[in-house]
Amino acid sequence: MNINQNQICTFVKIKISKMNENTIKNFSTQLIQSVENKEFVKCTLGKISSSAKDLQNIYIKAIELKSNVMLSFTFRYARRDEVKNFSLSEANDYMLQALGNEIFAADLFTTSKNYFLKFNKKRIAQIIEQKATFSQIVNLQHDKLKKRYISTENNIYLQRLEIVGNNGQILKNKEDKFKQINKFIEIIDSLIKDISFENEIKIIDMGSGKGYLTFAVYDYLKNNLGLNVKIKGIETQEKLVEICNSIAKDSQFENLSFEQSNISNFNETDIDILISLHACDTATDDTLYQGIKSNARLIVSSPCCHKQIRGQMNKSKKLMQINKFGILLERQAEIITDAIRAHLLELQGYKTNIFEFISAEYTGKNLLIVATKTATEIKTMEIKSKIEELKSLFGIDFHYLEKLLEENENDQSWRNLNPVCHTH
Ligand SMILES: C[S@@+](CC[C@H](N)C(=O)[O-])C[C@H]1O[C@@H](n2cnc3c(N)ncnc32)[C@H](O)[C@@H]1O
Repeated sequence: MNINQNQICTFVKIKISKMNENTIKNFSTQLIQSVENKEFVKCTLGKISSSAKDLQNIYIKAIELKSNVMLSFTFRYARRDEVKNFSLSEANDYMLQALGNEIFAADLFTTSKNYFLKFNKKRIAQIIEQKATFSQIVNLQHDKLKKRYISTENNIYLQRLEIVGNNGQILKNKEDKFKQINKFIEIIDSLIKDISFENEIKIIDMGSGKGYLTFAVYDYLKNNLGLNVKIKGIETQEKLVEICNSIAKDSQFENLSFEQSNISNFNETDIDILISLHACDTATDDTLYQGIKSNARLIVSSPCCHKQIRGQMNKSKKLMQINKFGILLERQAEIITDAIRAHLLELQGYKTNIFEFISAEYTGKNLLIVATKTATEIKTMEIKSKIEELKSLFGIDFHYLEKLLEENENDQSWRNLNPVCHTH
């Protein structure tokens, strides 16, 4: 596998001496063999060089996925975690590439021995072996002990939405959905801690559908964290709106409501937090636009089906050799659409990040755009030229969100809600 394409941080390859190479290989072999021999307990990678952004450490555990033993890497950043599951050979590739490049310490615990890979001041690698600390391996069942943000017991809305049965057990075909929602809330939980709200927090879920996310966010923020929230789900389908409002009433969620509306027609401009999970195609752009217009403090949106620029990219002759393959065109369209979205958000004063919020085994639509309003200077010209470069490279005439912002450029009144500094 080419690890650079799949892993989270990419490493600048530095020359590693033959001696170090052998030591690193030995260490990685001990790790892989301990998993194969069912002796692996855990491994932690640390002493990460500053070039790996805010990555602090990596925790590795063994998991069983569809009867295959894999290694699950949790990349711990300052304010979030990202999880990637690797086959044993992918994990081996990763270790060989990362150790001695940007990672300079690794602690491996097995039931037969502990192994500590260390680098001295001259960056010479050494393995120190010690008596095993652990005598038993941990249960390989994936995510069994993971924290749940939403309680499934006596949970009216989860029962009515048919995520759990009467006994509180998650229904077999709803496990993936439950995981997505749980993870989404975990992320909101970590983001919301950095924002101080004085009054009631107004949250809008755009394209709320059956309301899985809307109910869970309300339940967590209101009932678990005790926050003063008012949440509204916006959805075009009348039937879904009706059902959700009836479930909200039965759950006694007084500050939660659902409204039949098209996202593009929504005209409230006092949103504090805007969320959306898989609003289709340009509905995600309408969503981001609503957040921008409201000067929302936080926008958390997982996009879905990126069709809008696909037709334009197809015509781009420069990339014909790639785009003649449908799937490659589709993947590129996703990447370019979201990259331009991120730049457009930055242009509006949002610090923006895009990452996989959950493993692709639970949903292929696993990218999350997180945009936080900042008061820092906006490098307007620089960002605009980056957007133009991207559009020109991929033969794109227009991006839907860009159009929305341009069309409303004359009406700048919404910008003054919370002025930010623009430079030219
Ligand atoms: C893929 S579903 C996701 C539903 C929900 N967010 C979830 O993750 O369970 C997308 C939902 O967005 C709604 N939707 C799509 N475009 C919309 C628009 N322009 N305005 C309002 N709702 C929209 C659809 O009716 C659908 O219910």
